This record gives sequence, C-alpha cells and structure tokens, in this order.
Amino acid sequence: MLTFVWAEDKNGVIGLEGKIPWKLPNDMKFFKEVTMSGAVVMGRKTYESIPNPPLPGRTNIVLTRNQLFSEPGVLTAHDRETVLEFAAQSEKDVHIIGGAEIFYLFKEDVERLYRTVIHDKFPGDTYMIPINWKEWELVEQKEGLVDKNNIHPHTFEIYDKKK
Ligand SMILES: NC(=O)c1ccc[n+]([C@@H]2O[C@H](COP(=O)([O-])OP(=O)(O)OC[C@H]3O[C@@H](n4cnc5c(N)ncnc54)[C@H](OP(=O)(O)O)[C@@H]3O)[C@@H](O)[C@H]2O)c1
Repeated sequence: MLTFVWAEDKNGVIGLEGKIPWKLPNDMKFFKEVTMSGAVVMGRKTYESIPNPPLPGRTNIVLTRNQLFSEPGVLTAHDRETVLEFAAQSEKDVHIIGGAEIFYLFKEDVERLYRTVIHDKFPGDTYMIPINWKEWELVEQKEGLVDKNNIHPHTFEIYDKKK
C-alpha cells in the first residue's frame, strides 16, 4: 500500500527553512510506529533535513534529479515510475514522507493518509498540497497527549481512499 505520512499546522504549514517548525516527540513516535519496517520515500531536501540519516529499520528511498547522488544505506530514484514499480513489487507498505514536491508527485497514487494536525500556527515556507477530502474516508482519529514535552495540542488521523 502507498501512503502519505505528514504533520501540518492549522494553516497547512509543514516546513520552515528546510526543517519541521515544531518540536513534538509524540508525533515522531507515531511516525516511527507507522513507518517502521516499511519503505520511506522522500525528496532530497527532506532527506538532508534528517539529523542522522538514513532512518533505521526502513528501506530509505530518496528522489533526486541529481544522477551523482549516492548515500550509504539509501536507494536513489530519479522519477516517479521507479518508485511505483518498487511499490508494486514490495510486500511492505511504501510511505511517502514528503516534502511538498514529493507529495505532489504521488497525489494520484496514494491510498492511505496518516495526517497529524497540530492545532497551533507556525511560521512556514512549505505547505501541504491540497487534498480532495471528498475522496477520503476518516477511519481513525485520536487526540495526542499534551504534556511538558508535547505542548502543542494535536490529533492523529488516518484516512483511506473511498472505493
Ligand atoms: N511536516 C512534515 O510532515 C514534513 C514532512 C517532510 C518534509 N517536511 C519539510 O518540508 C520541507 C522540504 O519540502 P520541499 O517540498 O521543499 O522538498 P522535498 O520534496 O523534500 O525535496 C525536493 C527535491 O526532491 C527532488 N525531486 C522533486 N521532484 C522530483 C522528480 N519528479 N524526480 C526526481 N526528483 C525530484 C529534487 O531533488 P534535487 O534538487 O536533488 O534534484 C527536489 O529538489 C522541509 O522544510 C521539511 O522539513 C515536513
């Protein structure tokens, strides 16, 4: 199954200056649970924003147009079709984890959405792409726990594409 996994603020912000604008360990934990043992597909900019890449325990696939890009422990793809072929042959879930350019590339292919909504506003320069919500059915929704390490109220949502 091909999925999107992302977190956005009230205004759809997902990034600022190459990074995620908030600190929310609960969401990092959720992200890890969802993606662990699957494959994660990301744009080169998102890859470069990860502190100690690649993400352990997952097949990491980076999309870049740079034919010279090569990183240890990482599969490189130069187009959408390569990723779709990988997903078709894979028994594991293939999670598209951003950023915006890469979500856009797979908007017609995605079958499940894992969205974390953070109920605050942050400065941002990268926004989630528009989603046609009429095509999606909410199958799970859970409020995140707010505590001293997770100060922003947040909701975890899972949507499946309507048949
Ligand atoms: N909140 C969240 O859940 C979340 C998730 C992910 C990322 N983010 C944030 O989003 C921001 C980055 O997003 P972004 O949209 O600027 O960049 P991005 O999607 O991470 O990466 C863009 C790069 O992907 C490659 N690419 C794009 N289309 C391609 C295609 N058709 N074929 C091959 N390669 C292609 C290009 O790499 P080359 O330039 O190397 O050719 C392009 O520069 C950061 O701030 C990051 O922290 C947030």
